[in-house]
Amino acid sequence: EVPQLDQRYKKSFNIGAAVEPYQLEGTTDTAVLKRHFNSIVAENAMKPMYIQPSEGEFNFEQADKIMKFAKENNMDVRYHTLIWHSQVPNWFFLDKEGKQMANETDPAKREANKELLLKRVENHVATIVQRYSDVVTSWDVVNEVIDDGPGANGTGLRDSNWYKIAGTDYIKIAFETAKKYAGPDAKLYINDYNTEVSPKRDHLYNLVKDLLDQGVPIDGVGHQAHIQIGWPSLQEIEDSINMFASLGLDNQITELDVSLYGWPPKPAFQTYDLIPRERILDQATRYDDLFKLYEKLDDKISSVTFWGIADNHTWLNDRAEQYNDGIGVDAPFVFDTDYNVKPSYWEIIDHK
Ligand code: XIL
Repeated sequence: EVPQLDQRYKKSFNIGAAVEPYQLEGTTDTAVLKRHFNSIVAENAMKPMYIQPSEGEFNFEQADKIMKFAKENNMDVRYHTLIWHSQVPNWFFLDKEGKQMANETDPAKREANKELLLKRVENHVATIVQRYSDVVTSWDVVNEVIDDGPGANGTGLRDSNWYKIAGTDYIKIAFETAKKYAGPDAKLYINDYNTEVSPKRDHLYNLVKDLLDQGVPIDGVGHQAHIQIGWPSLQEIEDSINMFASLGLDNQITELDVSLYGWPPKPAFQTYDLIPRERILDQATRYDDLFKLYEKLDDKISSVTFWGIADNHTWLNDRAEQYNDGIGVDAPFVFDTDYNVKPSYWEIIDHK
């Protein structure tokens, strides 16, 4: 049997994978997870739309399965994600009359709406964090609050319903509430993608610095790392980790996948057989470089999580299909579609 990935990096950081509950029911995924990973995160099951589909009605069934598996197998859990603008039910943003609060112009009503939304944030976060405080070691408290461009009024902030109704106070309340109920050793993260590239990186830095100055209990930055073979550069990745570490924060790599393509993923290979060997070897070199860097920075990185387990299940396939008239595959991981190890796996084991 091949060496265990998590053991290989035991001295440096956790090795995690995103999972759907069905993958924990005695499948090959289950075996690979147990052998190679010491941390898990839900790919979807813990997002707001599944956890609190309507106000006050929590549905913990799927999330519980993941927590149970983690406990039984002594794995850390990253909770993804308490607050996000996507995969969130609309009821959060409706006032008591069913009107979209973001559109409100009357100042007094805006004030009342803000209060209502912040109460909902508090209740959502408190209920979940209390329930899972014994298992979860890292919380994605907010996800993707930074825009890719200038953002709301040039602030860099994503102009989401959350922001439109409550400004940045929703972020503050979410962290403060999570802090109140989380376990004493649990860490709270602000998670985002393209955290390596300007101006997004700098907008994130400015926000975090500002919140820390206000005493908001942020422990770290989650870097999603949905990356490509040639992008972003190693220098950008290193600079970003160092920049957030300089604020006294931890870093986690939270959703790692290395696409075979640029953006958009077009043209994509139509089937796995059509992927040239060279592309897989280029990907291996990229993984090698990446993990060498992570290892070098391991005092600033506490966990590296892949956004899946093996190439047979990746959200990037949906992306490849979407941009190629419904036909296209990606292969972003270190295990192939049959769960065999890829050249990328050997590179990150050996750095040969
Ligand atoms: C993705 C899941 O992988 C898909 O199954 C789902 O349809 C959409 O969300 N950034 C995130 C993740 O923070 O939650 C997203 O996960 C991928 C991008």
